[in-house]
Amino acid sequence: MPHFDPPSEKLHWTTYSSVDLKLALEKITNTLADFVDRSRQSLDPVVSLQPVKEITQHLALDDYLRRSGQGSPADLLDEFIANYLTTVIRLNDPRFIGHQVARPHFASALADLVNGLTNNGMAVYEMGPGPVALEKYIVDWLLKFVPWGQNRTQSSTHVTGGGFLTHGGSIANLTALLAARGTFDSESWQNGINPAHVFLIPDTSHYCVKRAICILGYGEKNILMLPTDSTGRIDTSQLEATYQRALNANKIPVAVCANACTTSTGLYDDLKTVGEFARSHALWFHVDGAHGASALISDAHRSLLNGIELADSLVWDQHKLLQTSALCTAILFRNPDSLSRIFQQQAAYLGDNENAEFPDLFHQTVECTKIPMGLKFFLILLATGENGLRELLEALFQRTAEIHQLISNRAGFVCDYVPQSNILCFQYRPEQLNQFEVRDQIIDEGEYYFTRTEIKGKKYFRFTVANPETTDKVVLGLLQRIENFDGRQATGSVSDQNEAGS
Ligand SMILES: Cc1ncc(COP(=O)(O)O)c(C=O)c1O
Repeated sequence: MPHFDPPSEKLHWTTYSSVDLKLALEKITNTLADFVDRSRQSLDPVVSLQPVKEITQHLALDDYLRRSGQGSPADLLDEFIANYLTTVIRLNDPRFIGHQVARPHFASALADLVNGLTNNGMAVYEMGPGPVALEKYIVDWLLKFVPWGQNRTQSSTHVTGGGFLTHGGSIANLTALLAARGTFDSESWQNGINPAHVFLIPDTSHYCVKRAICILGYGEKNILMLPTDSTGRIDTSQLEATYQRALNANKIPVAVCANACTTSTGLYDDLKTVGEFARSHALWFHVDGAHGASALISDAHRSLLNGIELADSLVWDQHKLLQTSALCTAILFRNPDSLSRIFQQQAAYLGDNENAEFPDLFHQTVECTKIPMGLKFFLILLATGENGLRELLEALFQRTAEIHQLISNRAGFVCDYVPQSNILCFQYRPEQLNQFEVRDQIIDEGEYYFTRTEIKGKKYFRFTVANPETTDKVVLGLLQRIENFDGRQATGSVSDQNEAGS
């Protein structure tokens, strides 16, 4: 074992030895494995929504800090982590049918640990040569599935398009729209925005899209909402009229956005029709596939994204349907030249490396320091194989279809649409029960975790089936709980807070 000589007594616990590291890992591994096992067996509440003050007390943060810095930290860290784990929601519990984040694969969690210990910032190539190579490999792996000219079975070194990984769908959407602006108006970086520009987005876009447009320096007046049908899909019959209205008002349309799929309902926009419309007017076509682009890896579901070949940019989260721990998102461009239109800046202290052999990613990314996200996804691929991921995605979509049948066949329950992904909205006796209040009271009990949303003024319960172990028995238990709801009569007002997404 290598000898470790701490530089001084004072620094001992900040410089740590490999013995401390191993001891801590051993203990914490056992604690985490126990957490995963207990969660999978539903032995603890899936969620415990105590007020923040009570959680802070429960965590005894001051008490723990008073005990800090004495002796080997392994025991103290392990004890605290075990306590902390009692305060988190449990995504491995089959009763978690909630937000869109994945039930993570442990291989991704291992990557988080490796990333934490290696801490390669990777803004510049020399700050993370391995991570940069891995990221490029993963981006090419993803590009294989986007029909931008290449054959899907072709080697990943010959794919068409370009892109990189970034910290989440929100930043990725912002980056895509920056590229759209820079392509449409090459002087916008120097001169600022043209106030006549407008972006056409569906009113069902994730809130981050509107936010991105405003961050770019535009205002809400630069956003033209595309009308959607009763299920929240773009009403393609209105595209031309919306465009003409913009021209008549002396606006200059820049880009059109579509969802694959929408956050609330999990339904896919008709990308082909929207893409052809964009092409016919020389507009940038952006597809927000943060949630649903993963369907591209499945022969059975790829057709949901027909028309993606027309897209100029695509956002694709791996932390939603592909088991990656948050965060891991790809922003992909049909034309690799788009990458140079995002930003037009140099930073002397980071170098100005445009060398394809040693690419510095900061030229393209919003982030400077960046987590090596490629490792998270690569380790999952290593652990499950491409087939494993495909089977998981298909199992989740299949489970959702089965749950839809189960719910539709039950008296009093209404599903207004057939799900296309792993997201499903439904109601129970909506004329008598305030769905939001019912949902909020049930999750307060800690036995089930699911979400709620509002579509065209109607309130819905919302499932995101993230776990193939969410059996009919689990769902039936929840449906019974909804049926038995005593009401406190749930027709009163609740906050009209909309689904925040994720
Ligand atoms: C369609 C869509 N776009 C963007 C986002 C935001 O992604 P992220 O949470 O990775 O920032 C979400 C999250 O729910 C989403 O559903």
